[in-house]
Amino acid sequence: MSVIKAIGVQYCTLQCPDLDIQEQFLLHFGMHTVEKTEEALIMRGDGPQPFIEVCKKGEKKFLGATYIASSMEDLEKISKTDAFSDVEELKTPGGGFISRGADLDGIGVEVCFGIKDRDDYQTLLPQSSNEGGQVNRINERKRYVKGAPPSIVRFGHYGINSNDIPAALEWYNEHLGIIATDKLFAGDPKDPNTPMMGIFARLDKGLEPADHHTIFWLPAPMVSEGKPGLNHVSFEMLQIDDVLRGHEILQRNKEEFNYELEWGVGRHYQGAQVFDYWRSPFKQTHEHQTDGDYFDNTFPPNEVDVTKDGLESDGPGPSQWGPDINFATFGDRRNG
Ligand SMILES: [Fe+2]
Repeated sequence: MSVIKAIGVQYCTLQCPDLDIQEQFLLHFGMHTVEKTEEALIMRGDGPQPFIEVCKKGEKKFLGATYIASSMEDLEKISKTDAFSDVEELKTPGGGFISRGADLDGIGVEVCFGIKDRDDYQTLLPQSSNEGGQVNRINERKRYVKGAPPSIVRFGHYGINSNDIPAALEWYNEHLGIIATDKLFAGDPKDPNTPMMGIFARLDKGLEPADHHTIFWLPAPMVSEGKPGLNHVSFEMLQIDDVLRGHEILQRNKEEFNYELEWGVGRHYQGAQVFDYWRSPFKQTHEHQTDGDYFDNTFPPNEVDVTKDGLESDGPGPSQWGPDINFATFGDRRNG
């Protein structure tokens, strides 16, 4: 029985040594500056939330993600557990309340309630597509300004390199109601000697569909030399064009601004998102993605032999199409 069941994620908090450089990267990535001081940078997307990423000034580090409680009572309830602090009032845009904690890997986990949507939000909807003979857009042009930043809807999920993935899932289930969607194995899942490659886990929102994953754990010993920390932070884009437009802008600026393409564009097997991963100048990986799978809480956890993904002739690889992942760098300890 979980203490609470979180209903979303609101924002992520990173730490990096130069806020001007981080701001420029996030502007190219598609965000807008909300507030910038000597100590912190607050950025928003084009969705209703007042901000979706906070960057504090300091040594490169991932400080954590902020989950959303369904009520003030739930926020009070989680704040009474050993892992979380008393409820504090937030001074950031949109106000609200927060309780701060840390998980078993020492990664920050916050729970908030009552952050108000921004007043200047303008309804953001994807344009209809005319595909496969289905005509949905008539007497209306689809036009983007070439080179204009892509539209980000929200902070969608994040990946963590953990030293004990089953224990992490249990902790998040106990505190926040997180449930497994896909458990990944490099071989037969039924064989106890098969190494576990990760777990994708989602929110339990009852019969209301939830993202395929809000959190994804990867084995720290395999990907980051045993150092627990950030694998990537991920932002949902308005539509597939926005993933591709973002790719074009970051490609165009990568030499001058020191960006690095980690992996993309492609479509994932697990979760099905169209994805594109970029390293900031501080090497903290940020993902653009859209069109992911949704499941309600009746959908059972799945055990996947990842070596069977893909055509045998093509070799295994965690994308349905797109370039191969670089296993040597994806999620490495440069993420901090
Ligand atoms: Fe992701």
